[in-house]
Amino acid sequence: MSSLTDTITVSAPAKIILFGEHAVVYHQPALAVPLSAIRVTVTRTPAAAPIFCAGSWTREFPADISEETLTDPVLKMAQATAKHLGITVPAARYEIASTIPPASGLGSGAAVSAAIGRAVAGGHVLPASVLNALVYDIERIHHGTPSGIDNTVIVYEQPVFFVRGSEPALFDVGQPIHLLVADTGRSALTKESVGDVRALVESQPEFALSRIHAIGDIVASAREALASGNISQLGELMHQNHALLRDLTVSSPELEALVNAATQAGALGAKLSGGGRGGNMIALVTPEARAAVSAALTAAGAVRVIETTLE
Ligand code: PMV
Repeated sequence: MSSLTDTITVSAPAKIILFGEHAVVYHQPALAVPLSAIRVTVTRTPAAAPIFCAGSWTREFPADISEETLTDPVLKMAQATAKHLGITVPAARYEIASTIPPASGLGSGAAVSAAIGRAVAGGHVLPASVLNALVYDIERIHHGTPSGIDNTVIVYEQPVFFVRGSEPALFDVGQPIHLLVADTGRSALTKESVGDVRALVESQPEFALSRIHAIGDIVASAREALASGNISQLGELMHQNHALLRDLTVSSPELEALVNAATQAGALGAKLSGGGRGGNMIALVTPEARAAVSAALTAAGAVRVIETTLE
């Protein structure tokens, strides 16, 4: 077990949803993968009292306060983890550093919570299933009615086929999948887009639910296409998934510009990823087309393009 005189560093990755966002809130399946290249890191160093810092943001952990009166998600996560372990939040400086852009569909909130939980636990045993449940509770502050997909992919750092309320399953990838992840640079709150989809389900149930079920069917086909390595079908399914998300009102002019630019430059498929309205999109590319699509995304306004390969 690490002692309080040790310095420890822990981290958690970003995530991308390949297929099924928003519909997953309505118990349709979704496919998501970790994006290990960008992460939240927490470095815990000895200090006289618990203090949490991220750049110029600092919060001292109050000495005598109940969990109920804490509102800050970072402090709440620290408190919930310590409570689960039967300890008080260890006296230390917790320095949070992140390369995941916030409010951009990459799960930065869940990654912060996961890394804080690991830092507070230090050398105490904190099973992934427990950390996952603790992070989910904090996600409810950020999102209202999260499906649980973000915390699951981020805590386990594994690709998952996810259905709300069921045990997550891994999925097979028959052939390496090359993706570009492009950031519109516009932040957007998932809570708002999820709320707007809910309002659409209530005001136009037939229209909205037919799209949500169609997305579920696409996810099932995508799982098969991934397993068999049918890249061109996967690309077509991405286009279809994006069109249905557009119908659900969660695209944006910036996302449309990036999806169109990627398609015109030779991507096999492209779609928004995550909550939408801004944030990130993904493009499926061959290794040969990767550089041209990446350049087209930057020319169309992407503030960052990350390459990732699933194998
Ligand atoms: O925007 P993100 O990275 O938090 O992804 C949200 C995914 C949604 O399906 C839109 C919401 C959810 O809780 O699953």
